[in-house]
Amino acid sequence: MKFKTIIEPFRIKVVEPIRHISEAERAAALEAAHFNLFLLKAEDVLIDLLTDSGTGAMSSGQWAGMMQGDESYAGARSYYRFDEAVHEITGLKHVIPTHQGRAAERILFGSLVQPGEMVVNNTHFDTTRANVEYRQATALDIPIPESKHSQLVHPFKGNIDLEALERLLTEHREKIPLVMLTVTNNSGGGQPVSMANIRGASAICKQHGVPFFLDACRFAENAWFIKTREEGYADKTPMAIAQEMFSYVDGCTMSAKKDGMANIGGFLALNDDALAQQCKNMLILTEGFPTYGGLAGYDLEAIAVGLHEALDEDYLRYRTRSVAYLGDFLNKVNIPIVQPPGGHAIYIDAQAMLPHIPQHEYPAWALSLVLYLEGGIRSVEIGSVMFGQQPDGSEKPAAMELVRLAFPRRVYTQSHFDYLAEVLAYVGERRERIRGVKIVSSPPVLRHFTVQVAPAHGTLLT
Ligand code: F0G
Repeated sequence: MKFKTIIEPFRIKVVEPIRHISEAERAAALEAAHFNLFLLKAEDVLIDLLTDSGTGAMSSGQWAGMMQGDESYAGARSYYRFDEAVHEITGLKHVIPTHQGRAAERILFGSLVQPGEMVVNNTHFDTTRANVEYRQATALDIPIPESKHSQLVHPFKGNIDLEALERLLTEHREKIPLVMLTVTNNSGGGQPVSMANIRGASAICKQHGVPFFLDACRFAENAWFIKTREEGYADKTPMAIAQEMFSYVDGCTMSAKKDGMANIGGFLALNDDALAQQCKNMLILTEGFPTYGGLAGYDLEAIAVGLHEALDEDYLRYRTRSVAYLGDFLNKVNIPIVQPPGGHAIYIDAQAMLPHIPQHEYPAWALSLVLYLEGGIRSVEIGSVMFGQQPDGSEKPAAMELVRLAFPRRVYTQSHFDYLAEVLAYVGERRERIRGVKIVSSPPVLRHFTVQVAPAHGTLLT
Protein backbone atom coordinates (compact mmCIF):
# COMPACT_ATOMS: atom_id res chain seq x y z
CA MET A 1 0.00 0.00 0.00
CA LYS A 2 1.21 3.50 -0.88
CA PHE A 3 0.06 5.18 2.37
CA LYS A 4 0.55 3.51 5.70
CA THR A 5 -2.06 5.21 7.90
CA ILE A 6 -4.81 2.75 8.73
CA ILE A 7 -8.04 4.73 8.88
CA GLU A 8 -11.40 3.94 10.42
CA PRO A 9 -13.03 2.17 7.45
CA PHE A 10 -16.35 3.99 7.82
CA ARG A 11 -17.94 7.43 7.76
CA ILE A 12 -20.00 8.57 10.74
CA LYS A 13 -23.67 9.09 9.99
CA VAL A 14 -25.14 9.37 13.48
CA VAL A 15 -23.39 10.81 16.52
CA GLU A 16 -23.99 10.44 20.23
CA PRO A 17 -22.70 13.26 22.47
CA ILE A 18 -20.38 12.46 25.35
CA ARG A 19 -19.53 14.99 28.03
CA HIS A 20 -16.76 15.98 30.40
CA ILE A 21 -17.70 16.40 34.03
CA SER A 22 -15.32 17.93 36.57
CA GLU A 23 -12.95 15.91 38.71
CA ALA A 24 -14.95 16.92 41.81
CA GLU A 25 -18.11 15.58 40.16
CA ARG A 26 -16.33 12.33 39.30
CA ALA A 27 -15.13 11.98 42.89
CA ALA A 28 -18.72 12.43 44.10
CA ALA A 29 -19.99 9.95 41.50
CA LEU A 30 -17.46 7.37 42.72
CA GLU A 31 -18.59 7.77 46.34
CA ALA A 32 -22.23 7.43 45.31
CA ALA A 33 -21.34 4.27 43.34
CA HIS A 34 -19.59 2.73 46.39
CA PHE A 35 -16.33 2.77 44.42
CA ASN A 36 -17.73 0.24 41.96
CA LEU A 37 -17.55 1.37 38.31
CA PHE A 38 -20.45 -0.95 37.40
CA LEU A 39 -22.65 1.22 39.62
CA LEU A 40 -21.84 4.53 37.91
CA LYS A 41 -24.33 6.30 35.69
CA ALA A 42 -23.02 5.82 32.16
CA GLU A 43 -23.57 9.49 31.38
CA ASP A 44 -20.96 10.36 33.99
CA VAL A 45 -18.38 8.43 31.96
CA LEU A 46 -16.41 10.14 29.19
CA ILE A 47 -14.81 7.16 27.43
CA ASP A 48 -16.54 3.92 28.30
CA LEU A 49 -14.26 0.91 28.01
CA LEU A 50 -16.11 -1.22 30.53
CA THR A 51 -16.83 -3.76 27.84
CA ASP A 52 -16.84 -4.40 24.11
CA SER A 53 -20.06 -6.33 24.61
CA GLY A 54 -23.21 -4.92 23.05
CA THR A 55 -21.63 -1.47 22.95
CA GLY A 56 -20.67 -1.33 19.27
CA ALA A 57 -22.06 0.96 16.59
CA MET A 58 -24.28 -0.76 14.07
CA SER A 59 -23.83 -0.14 10.38
CA SER A 60 -26.31 1.32 7.91
CA GLY A 61 -26.59 -2.22 6.53
CA GLN A 62 -27.64 -3.54 9.93
CA TRP A 63 -30.19 -0.78 10.48
CA ALA A 64 -31.59 -1.44 7.01
CA GLY A 65 -31.85 -5.12 7.91
CA MET A 66 -33.66 -4.25 11.11
CA MET A 67 -36.40 -2.49 9.17
CA GLN A 68 -37.09 -5.83 7.53
CA GLY A 69 -37.39 -7.66 10.83
CA ASP A 70 -40.16 -10.24 10.78
CA GLU A 71 -41.75 -10.32 14.22
CA SER A 72 -43.75 -13.50 13.70
CA TYR A 73 -43.76 -15.67 16.80
CA ALA A 74 -42.86 -18.81 14.89
CA GLY A 75 -41.00 -19.39 11.64
CA ALA A 76 -40.10 -15.73 11.06
CA ARG A 77 -38.17 -14.90 7.89
CA SER A 78 -35.60 -13.15 10.12
CA TYR A 79 -34.86 -16.45 11.85
CA TYR A 80 -34.05 -18.12 8.55
CA ARG A 81 -31.69 -15.28 7.59
CA PHE A 82 -30.01 -15.58 10.96
CA ASP A 83 -29.82 -19.38 10.70
CA GLU A 84 -28.28 -19.12 7.23
CA ALA A 85 -25.63 -16.60 8.37
CA VAL A 86 -24.65 -18.72 11.38
CA HIS A 87 -24.72 -21.91 9.35
CA GLU A 88 -22.54 -20.45 6.60
CA ILE A 89 -19.83 -19.53 9.10
CA THR A 90 -20.05 -22.45 11.53
CA GLY A 91 -21.41 -25.27 9.39
CA LEU A 92 -23.24 -26.43 12.53
CA LYS A 93 -26.57 -28.12 12.03
CA HIS A 94 -28.82 -26.69 14.75
CA VAL A 95 -28.83 -22.95 15.40
CA ILE A 96 -30.63 -21.88 18.57
CA PRO A 97 -30.98 -18.13 19.19
CA THR A 98 -30.63 -16.83 22.75
CA HIS A 99 -30.88 -13.36 24.24
CA GLN A 100 -27.13 -13.34 24.91
CA GLY A 101 -24.14 -15.60 25.39
CA ARG A 102 -24.73 -16.64 28.97
CA ALA A 103 -28.21 -17.91 28.13
CA ALA A 104 -26.61 -20.24 25.59
CA GLU A 105 -24.18 -21.37 28.31
CA ARG A 106 -26.92 -21.97 30.85
CA ILE A 107 -28.96 -24.00 28.39
CA LEU A 108 -25.99 -26.06 27.19
CA PHE A 109 -24.66 -26.79 30.69
CA GLY A 110 -28.20 -27.40 31.96
CA SER A 111 -28.50 -30.19 29.40
CA LEU A 112 -25.00 -31.62 29.50
CA VAL A 113 -23.40 -31.03 32.91
CA GLN A 114 -24.23 -32.94 36.10
CA PRO A 115 -23.25 -32.16 39.71
CA GLY A 116 -19.72 -33.31 40.54
CA GLU A 117 -18.56 -33.15 36.91
CA MET A 118 -15.85 -30.94 35.46
CA VAL A 119 -15.80 -28.62 32.43
CA VAL A 120 -12.37 -27.92 30.97
CA ASN A 121 -11.55 -24.69 29.10
CA ASN A 122 -8.47 -22.64 28.21
CA THR A 123 -9.96 -20.03 30.56
CA HIS A 124 -13.61 -19.75 31.50
CA PHE A 125 -15.08 -16.28 31.29
CA ASP A 126 -16.79 -15.21 34.53
CA THR A 127 -20.35 -16.00 33.46
CA THR A 128 -19.24 -19.28 31.93
CA ARG A 129 -17.52 -20.29 35.15
CA ALA A 130 -20.56 -19.21 37.17
CA ASN A 131 -22.89 -21.24 34.94
CA VAL A 132 -20.71 -24.34 35.38
CA GLU A 133 -20.55 -23.83 39.13
CA TYR A 134 -24.29 -23.26 39.27
CA ARG A 135 -24.58 -26.88 38.06
CA GLN A 136 -22.41 -27.84 41.07
CA ALA A 137 -19.64 -28.79 38.71
CA THR A 138 -16.03 -27.62 38.57
CA ALA A 139 -14.76 -25.16 35.94
CA LEU A 140 -11.13 -26.04 35.27
CA ASP A 141 -8.80 -23.70 33.34
CA ILE A 142 -5.79 -25.17 31.56
CA PRO A 143 -4.22 -22.43 29.42
CA ILE A 144 -0.64 -22.95 28.21
CA PRO A 145 1.93 -22.01 30.88
CA GLU A 146 3.11 -19.03 28.76
CA SER A 147 -0.26 -17.34 29.39
CA LYS A 148 0.65 -16.82 33.04
CA HIS A 149 3.56 -14.51 32.20
CA SER A 150 2.06 -11.19 31.24
CA GLN A 151 5.25 -9.82 29.66
CA LEU A 152 6.05 -12.86 27.57
CA VAL A 153 5.34 -12.46 23.87
CA HIS A 154 3.76 -15.50 22.24
CA PRO A 155 1.61 -15.35 19.09
CA PHE A 156 -1.11 -17.62 20.50
CA LYS A 157 -1.09 -17.14 24.21
CA GLY A 158 -4.75 -18.16 24.36
CA ASN A 159 -3.91 -21.78 23.52
CA ILE A 160 -5.14 -24.58 25.73
CA ASP A 161 -2.48 -26.88 27.23
CA LEU A 162 -2.89 -29.96 25.04
CA GLU A 163 -0.78 -32.21 27.27
CA ALA A 164 -2.85 -31.28 30.31
CA LEU A 165 -6.01 -31.90 28.30
CA GLU A 166 -4.83 -35.33 27.20
CA ARG A 167 -3.91 -36.20 30.79
CA LEU A 168 -7.24 -35.02 32.19
CA LEU A 169 -9.24 -36.94 29.62
CA THR A 170 -7.17 -40.09 30.17
CA GLU A 171 -7.58 -39.92 33.96
CA HIS A 172 -11.07 -38.44 34.38
CA ARG A 173 -12.97 -39.10 31.15
CA GLU A 174 -16.15 -40.09 32.99
CA LYS A 175 -16.22 -36.79 34.89
CA ILE A 176 -15.83 -34.51 31.85
CA PRO A 177 -19.06 -33.95 29.87
CA LEU A 178 -17.52 -31.37 27.52
CA VAL A 179 -14.40 -29.41 26.72
CA MET A 180 -14.56 -25.75 25.68
CA LEU A 181 -12.12 -23.41 24.02
CA THR A 182 -12.65 -19.67 24.37
CA VAL A 183 -11.62 -17.70 21.26
CA THR A 184 -10.12 -15.26 21.86
CA ASN A 185 -9.27 -16.02 25.48
CA ASN A 186 -10.93 -13.04 27.14
CA SER A 187 -10.00 -13.58 30.79
CA GLY A 188 -6.48 -14.59 29.78
CA GLY A 189 -5.81 -11.22 28.14
CA GLY A 190 -7.83 -11.39 24.91
CA GLN A 191 -5.20 -13.69 23.44
CA PRO A 192 -5.90 -15.76 20.33
CA VAL A 193 -5.89 -19.52 19.92
CA SER A 194 -4.06 -21.00 16.94
CA MET A 195 -5.68 -23.23 14.36
CA ALA A 196 -3.17 -25.94 15.26
CA ASN A 197 -4.31 -25.76 18.87
CA ILE A 198 -8.01 -25.94 17.92
CA ARG A 199 -7.25 -28.89 15.67
CA GLY A 200 -5.17 -30.57 18.41
CA ALA A 201 -7.81 -30.11 21.11
CA SER A 202 -10.46 -31.39 18.73
CA ALA A 203 -8.47 -34.55 17.96
CA ILE A 204 -7.90 -35.29 21.66
CA CYS A 205 -11.60 -34.80 22.45
CA LYS A 206 -12.62 -37.00 19.52
CA GLN A 207 -10.27 -39.74 20.61
CA HIS A 208 -11.87 -39.75 24.08
CA GLY A 209 -15.42 -39.30 22.77
CA VAL A 210 -15.94 -35.96 24.54
CA PRO A 211 -17.96 -33.15 22.91
CA PHE A 212 -15.79 -30.15 21.99
CA PHE A 213 -17.29 -26.64 21.94
CA LEU A 214 -16.03 -23.17 21.12
CA ASP A 215 -16.96 -20.17 23.21
CA ALA A 216 -16.98 -18.20 19.97
CA CYS A 217 -17.64 -14.61 21.13
CA ARG A 218 -14.63 -13.15 19.33
CA PHE A 219 -14.20 -15.71 16.57
CA ALA A 220 -13.59 -13.08 13.86
CA GLU A 221 -10.76 -11.40 15.77
CA ASN A 222 -9.31 -14.84 16.43
CA ALA A 223 -9.51 -15.64 12.71
CA TRP A 224 -7.63 -12.41 11.95
CA PHE A 225 -4.80 -13.36 14.30
CA ILE A 226 -4.58 -16.77 12.65
CA LYS A 227 -4.39 -15.04 9.27
CA THR A 228 -1.66 -12.65 10.36
CA ARG A 229 0.35 -14.89 12.69
CA GLU A 230 -0.01 -18.56 11.75
CA GLU A 231 1.88 -20.09 8.87
CA GLY A 232 -0.24 -21.08 5.91
CA TYR A 233 -3.15 -18.70 6.52
CA ALA A 234 -1.92 -15.36 5.12
CA ASP A 235 -3.78 -15.82 1.84
CA LYS A 236 -7.02 -17.16 3.30
CA THR A 237 -10.01 -14.93 3.98
CA PRO A 238 -11.19 -14.44 7.57
CA MET A 239 -14.40 -16.22 6.50
CA ALA A 240 -12.50 -19.30 5.27
CA ILE A 241 -10.43 -19.32 8.46
CA ALA A 242 -13.52 -19.02 10.65
CA GLN A 243 -15.14 -21.86 8.72
CA GLU A 244 -12.11 -24.03 9.35
CA MET A 245 -12.10 -23.14 13.07
CA PHE A 246 -15.72 -24.26 13.41
CA SER A 247 -15.16 -27.38 11.31
CA TYR A 248 -13.31 -28.93 14.27
CA VAL A 249 -16.08 -28.54 16.86
CA ASP A 250 -19.31 -30.23 17.86
CA GLY A 251 -20.90 -26.95 18.77
CA CYS A 252 -20.45 -23.42 20.08
CA THR A 253 -21.89 -20.83 22.40
CA MET A 254 -21.82 -17.28 21.12
CA SER A 255 -22.48 -13.82 22.39
CA ALA A 256 -23.50 -11.83 19.31
CA LYS A 257 -22.81 -8.70 21.38
CA LYS A 258 -19.16 -9.11 20.42
CA ASP A 259 -18.32 -10.33 16.91
CA GLY A 260 -22.01 -10.45 16.00
CA MET A 261 -21.70 -6.62 15.98
CA ALA A 262 -25.12 -6.38 17.63
CA ASN A 263 -26.31 -4.67 20.79
CA ILE A 264 -28.00 -7.81 22.05
CA GLY A 265 -28.22 -11.48 21.11
CA GLY A 266 -26.42 -14.77 21.04
CA PHE A 267 -26.80 -18.38 20.04
CA LEU A 268 -26.03 -21.97 20.73
CA ALA A 269 -25.17 -24.02 17.66
CA LEU A 270 -24.50 -27.74 17.63
CA ASN A 271 -24.62 -30.90 15.56
CA ASP A 272 -26.09 -33.49 17.92
CA ASP A 273 -29.83 -33.94 17.18
CA ALA A 274 -30.88 -35.26 20.59
CA LEU A 275 -28.92 -32.64 22.51
CA ALA A 276 -30.32 -29.88 20.28
CA GLN A 277 -33.85 -31.08 21.04
CA GLN A 278 -33.16 -31.08 24.75
CA CYS A 279 -31.68 -27.57 24.55
CA LYS A 280 -34.68 -26.32 22.56
CA ASN A 281 -37.00 -27.67 25.24
CA MET A 282 -35.09 -25.71 27.88
CA LEU A 283 -35.02 -22.66 25.61
CA ILE A 284 -38.80 -22.58 25.48
CA LEU A 285 -38.98 -22.48 29.28
CA THR A 286 -37.06 -19.24 29.71
CA GLU A 287 -35.98 -17.71 26.40
CA GLY A 288 -38.76 -18.31 23.94
CA PHE A 289 -39.78 -20.33 20.91
CA PRO A 290 -36.77 -21.76 19.02
CA THR A 291 -37.11 -19.39 16.06
CA TYR A 292 -36.64 -16.26 18.18
CA GLY A 293 -35.08 -17.38 21.50
CA GLY A 294 -35.76 -14.18 23.43
CA LEU A 295 -34.82 -11.84 20.57
CA ALA A 296 -36.89 -9.58 18.38
CA GLY A 297 -36.98 -10.42 14.67
CA TYR A 298 -35.03 -7.21 14.03
CA ASP A 299 -32.27 -8.35 16.41
CA LEU A 300 -31.89 -11.54 14.38
CA GLU A 301 -31.51 -9.41 11.23
CA ALA A 302 -28.87 -7.18 12.85
CA ILE A 303 -26.85 -10.25 13.85
CA ALA A 304 -27.18 -11.90 10.43
CA VAL A 305 -25.63 -8.80 8.81
CA GLY A 306 -23.19 -8.15 11.67
CA LEU A 307 -21.60 -11.62 11.57
CA HIS A 308 -20.50 -10.93 8.01
CA GLU A 309 -19.29 -7.40 8.74
CA ALA A 310 -17.13 -8.72 11.58
CA LEU A 311 -15.23 -10.81 9.02
CA ASP A 312 -14.45 -7.86 6.74
CA GLU A 313 -10.68 -7.51 6.30
CA ASP A 314 -10.55 -3.70 6.39
CA TYR A 315 -12.59 -3.72 9.57
CA LEU A 316 -10.42 -6.36 11.27
CA ARG A 317 -7.20 -4.60 10.22
CA TYR A 318 -8.44 -1.29 11.65
CA ARG A 319 -9.78 -2.97 14.79
CA THR A 320 -6.62 -4.82 15.74
CA ARG A 321 -4.43 -1.87 14.71
CA SER A 322 -6.33 0.54 17.01
CA VAL A 323 -5.66 -1.74 19.97
CA ALA A 324 -2.01 -2.27 19.00
CA TYR A 325 -1.58 1.52 18.56
CA LEU A 326 -2.46 2.13 22.20
CA GLY A 327 -0.39 -0.90 23.23
CA ASP A 328 2.70 0.49 21.45
CA PHE A 329 2.24 3.79 23.25
CA LEU A 330 1.91 2.14 26.67
CA ASN A 331 5.08 0.17 26.03
CA LYS A 332 6.87 3.44 25.38
CA VAL A 333 5.66 5.06 28.61
CA ASN A 334 6.52 1.97 30.61
CA ILE A 335 3.02 0.87 31.61
CA PRO A 336 3.10 -2.92 31.82
CA ILE A 337 0.41 -4.61 29.72
CA VAL A 338 -0.29 -8.19 28.80
CA GLN A 339 1.86 -8.79 25.75
CA PRO A 340 1.14 -8.79 22.94
CA PRO A 341 -2.10 -6.72 22.90
CA GLY A 342 -5.19 -8.83 22.22
CA GLY A 343 -7.99 -8.19 19.74
CA HIS A 344 -10.62 -6.36 21.72
CA ALA A 345 -8.79 -4.90 24.67
CA ILE A 346 -5.62 -3.79 26.40
CA TYR A 347 -4.98 -5.41 29.74
CA ILE A 348 -2.82 -3.41 32.15
CA ASP A 349 -0.87 -5.57 34.57
CA ALA A 350 -1.71 -3.69 37.77
CA GLN A 351 0.39 -5.94 39.98
CA ALA A 352 3.49 -5.10 37.97
CA MET A 353 2.54 -1.43 37.71
CA LEU A 354 1.67 -0.99 41.39
CA PRO A 355 4.00 -3.34 43.30
CA HIS A 356 3.42 -1.29 46.46
CA ILE A 357 -0.25 -2.42 46.64
CA PRO A 358 -0.63 -5.96 48.06
CA GLN A 359 -3.00 -8.32 46.25
CA HIS A 360 -5.46 -8.31 49.15
CA GLU A 361 -5.89 -4.57 48.55
CA TYR A 362 -6.97 -5.20 44.95
CA PRO A 363 -4.44 -3.17 42.93
CA ALA A 364 -6.34 -3.54 39.63
CA TRP A 365 -9.60 -2.35 41.16
CA ALA A 366 -7.77 0.64 42.66
CA LEU A 367 -6.17 1.51 39.32
CA SER A 368 -9.49 1.32 37.50
CA LEU A 369 -10.96 3.80 40.00
CA VAL A 370 -8.07 6.21 39.48
CA LEU A 371 -8.45 6.08 35.69
CA TYR A 372 -12.03 7.19 36.14
CA LEU A 373 -11.19 9.84 38.70
CA GLU A 374 -8.42 11.37 36.60
CA GLY A 375 -9.76 10.98 33.08
CA GLY A 376 -13.39 9.88 33.12
CA ILE A 377 -12.35 6.51 31.68
CA ARG A 378 -14.32 3.45 32.71
CA SER A 379 -12.43 0.15 32.55
CA VAL A 380 -12.98 -3.16 34.30
CA GLU A 381 -10.97 -5.06 36.89
CA ILE A 382 -10.16 -8.62 35.95
CA GLY A 383 -8.45 -9.70 39.11
CA SER A 384 -9.13 -10.75 42.67
CA VAL A 385 -12.40 -8.87 43.06
CA MET A 386 -13.75 -10.67 39.98
CA PHE A 387 -12.19 -14.08 40.59
CA GLY A 388 -11.00 -14.19 44.22
CA GLN A 389 -14.27 -15.39 45.73
CA GLN A 390 -14.45 -19.21 45.89
CA PRO A 391 -17.70 -21.22 45.71
CA ASP A 392 -17.24 -22.19 49.39
CA GLY A 393 -17.02 -18.50 50.36
CA SER A 394 -13.27 -18.48 50.94
CA GLU A 395 -10.88 -16.05 49.25
CA LYS A 396 -8.05 -16.98 46.89
CA PRO A 397 -6.02 -14.37 45.00
CA ALA A 398 -6.48 -14.38 41.21
CA ALA A 399 -3.61 -15.46 38.94
CA MET A 400 -3.26 -11.89 37.66
CA GLU A 401 -4.46 -8.43 38.65
CA LEU A 402 -5.51 -6.86 35.36
CA VAL A 403 -7.35 -3.71 34.31
CA ARG A 404 -9.07 -4.27 31.00
CA LEU A 405 -9.69 -1.42 28.59
CA ALA A 406 -12.18 -3.05 26.22
CA PHE A 407 -12.96 -1.26 22.99
CA PRO A 408 -16.51 -1.04 21.67
CA ARG A 409 -16.60 -1.84 17.96
CA ARG A 410 -16.60 1.11 15.51
CA VAL A 411 -17.33 3.63 18.30
CA TYR A 412 -14.16 5.54 19.20
CA THR A 413 -11.79 7.21 16.74
CA GLN A 414 -8.08 7.82 16.87
CA SER A 415 -8.40 11.08 18.83
CA HIS A 416 -10.25 9.19 21.56
CA PHE A 417 -7.32 6.78 21.63
CA ASP A 418 -4.88 9.71 21.83
CA TYR A 419 -6.81 11.13 24.79
CA LEU A 420 -6.69 7.74 26.47
CA ALA A 421 -2.96 7.53 25.92
CA GLU A 422 -2.51 10.94 27.53
CA VAL A 423 -4.56 9.99 30.61
CA LEU A 424 -2.75 6.68 31.00
CA ALA A 425 0.66 8.34 30.73
CA TYR A 426 -0.41 10.92 33.35
CA VAL A 427 -1.60 8.22 35.77
CA GLY A 428 1.52 6.17 35.01
CA GLU A 429 3.75 9.04 36.10
CA ARG A 430 1.91 9.24 39.40
CA ARG A 431 1.62 5.50 40.06
CA GLU A 432 3.35 5.59 43.49
CA ARG A 433 0.53 7.76 44.81
CA ILE A 434 -2.21 5.19 44.15
CA ARG A 435 -3.51 3.39 47.25
CA GLY A 436 -5.35 0.06 47.71
CA VAL A 437 -9.01 -0.62 48.43
CA LYS A 438 -11.03 -2.93 50.67
CA ILE A 439 -14.36 -4.72 50.23
CA VAL A 440 -17.11 -3.32 52.42
CA SER A 441 -19.99 -5.61 51.43
CA SER A 442 -20.29 -8.36 48.89
CA PRO A 443 -22.98 -10.59 47.32
CA PRO A 444 -22.45 -14.39 47.39
CA VAL A 445 -21.63 -14.84 43.66
CA LEU A 446 -20.34 -12.71 40.74
CA ARG A 447 -19.51 -10.12 43.34
CA HIS A 448 -17.79 -7.59 41.08
CA PHE A 449 -21.10 -6.42 39.61
CA THR A 450 -22.52 -5.15 42.89
CA VAL A 451 -19.72 -5.25 45.47
CA GLN A 452 -19.29 -2.15 47.64
CA VAL A 453 -15.73 -1.00 48.07
CA ALA A 454 -13.85 1.76 49.91
CA PRO A 455 -10.30 3.11 49.93
CA ALA A 456 -8.28 0.96 52.38
CA HIS A 457 -6.27 3.94 53.58
CA GLY A 458 -8.83 6.72 53.51
CA THR A 459 -7.95 7.92 50.01
CA LEU A 460 -7.40 6.56 46.50
CA LEU A 461 -4.51 8.89 45.76
CA THR A 462 -2.10 10.47 48.21
N1 F0G B 1 -17.90 -15.82 26.95
C1 F0G B 1 -16.97 -14.84 26.83
C2 F0G B 1 -15.57 -15.19 26.43
C3 F0G B 1 -17.33 -13.52 27.09
O1 F0G B 1 -16.41 -12.57 26.95
C4 F0G B 1 -18.67 -13.23 27.47
C5 F0G B 1 -19.06 -11.88 27.78
C6 F0G B 1 -19.59 -14.27 27.55
C7 F0G B 1 -19.16 -15.54 27.29
C8 F0G B 1 -21.03 -14.04 27.93
O2 F0G B 1 -21.72 -13.38 26.94
O3 F0G B 1 -22.40 -11.21 27.97
O4 F0G B 1 -23.55 -12.09 25.95
O5 F0G B 1 -23.89 -13.16 28.12
N2 F0G B 1 -18.23 -10.97 28.00
C9 F0G B 1 -18.51 -9.57 28.25
C10 F0G B 1 -17.23 -8.87 28.55
C11 F0G B 1 -19.59 -9.31 29.22
O6 F0G B 1 -17.30 -7.72 29.01
O7 F0G B 1 -16.17 -9.42 28.29
P1 F0G B 1 -22.96 -12.41 27.26
